[in-house]
Amino acid sequence: MFVFAVQNSKLIALSKSPIILAIESSCDDTSAAVLKGKLVCSNLIANQAVHEQYGGVVPELASRAHQANIVPVVQTALKKANVELKDVEAIAFTKGPGLLGSLLVGTSFAKGLAWGLNAKLIEVNHMQAHILAHFISNEHNHYPNFPFICLTVSGGHTQLVLVKGPTAFEIIGQTIDDAIGEAFDKTAKLLNLPYPGGPLIDKMTKQGNPNAFKFPKPQVGEFEFSFSGIKTSVLYFLRDALKSEPDFIKLHLHDICASIQKTLVDIVIEKLEKAEKKYKTGHLAIAGGVSANSELRDRLQKLGSKLNAKTYIPPFEYCTDNAAMIGIAGYFLYEANQFANLSVAPKARLAL
Ligand code: KG4
Ligand code: ZN
Repeated sequence: MFVFAVQNSKLIALSKSPIILAIESSCDDTSAAVLKGKLVCSNLIANQAVHEQYGGVVPELASRAHQANIVPVVQTALKKANVELKDVEAIAFTKGPGLLGSLLVGTSFAKGLAWGLNAKLIEVNHMQAHILAHFISNEHNHYPNFPFICLTVSGGHTQLVLVKGPTAFEIIGQTIDDAIGEAFDKTAKLLNLPYPGGPLIDKMTKQGNPNAFKFPKPQVGEFEFSFSGIKTSVLYFLRDALKSEPDFIKLHLHDICASIQKTLVDIVIEKLEKAEKKYKTGHLAIAGGVSANSELRDRLQKLGSKLNAKTYIPPFEYCTDNAAMIGIAGYFLYEANQFANLSVAPKARLAL
């Protein structure tokens, strides 16, 4: 099935369910996905274990690992989807934000392949893609209505976004320093947990008392976030506690994790509630790596019941970085007839 669109006074044929190959390489995961329209046919992710020993992502090592991974990951994604390269109509890739060297690998690969295949090229904003993951075809037909509010929480961002359409985003508020994912990872590091610590804090919390310890909440603007102070207060709290009880972390790990997680989740849920009371959209979503957090998922549902709003929580595989979300964002840009040309370059600091 084809529809026609006018671009530069030329009629061009666009298929209704285009086969899109998507590539994500903004940080430390190399991912490739194949979509037919909004349906994900495959979504492969190669993680990079090399960073674990350093307690964080080392940009140069990430770029090198992307170079080693990208060809096999793309090949496997195509194979799993049962799609041949010649059938790919468009290639969507992450333009930014992210680590420049990592973005360069995905961008250069996408450009070269699009040129070689004579396929369309689509540049995608990683943060928009996290939000648009909610529109990946699902069996429950559960998709947000526009406008809706999305709380995007990842290792690099914390944003409250008013999503007016698949290509129309307005930032209501964002962090003035660290992202919430960074707060999870940096406090986990203080507890001697390996990188990335967010999922581990989540796991430890299950057997802990969230009210065991209190950490101060930041005093910032109505829709702003700040997480750097919490990291510092956890640092001083542990320093003092370890003086009187050298095994303090070991003995109280579950309670410390639960108390940190409660503080972080309280902060974002309170802001989301304020935003919904102001904008009254009736549709609340979370997105990004930290939306995998079990307490955040639970609290979003409770907030939805309290405010009589529908809630949208991504399946786990679409929370942390993945190429399927780049593919769905690419699909909407394809529909809007917004294509990139071969002069496109990655951008480490790309605004929403
Ligand atoms: O979206 P993402 O994969 O990468 C970025 O674009 O940043 O997010 C990664 C972040 C990391 O900080 C990681 O610790 C956090 O998401 N994360 C979690 C959980 N799963 C991943 N944080 C808390 N609880 C989790 N279950
Ligand atoms: Zn991300």
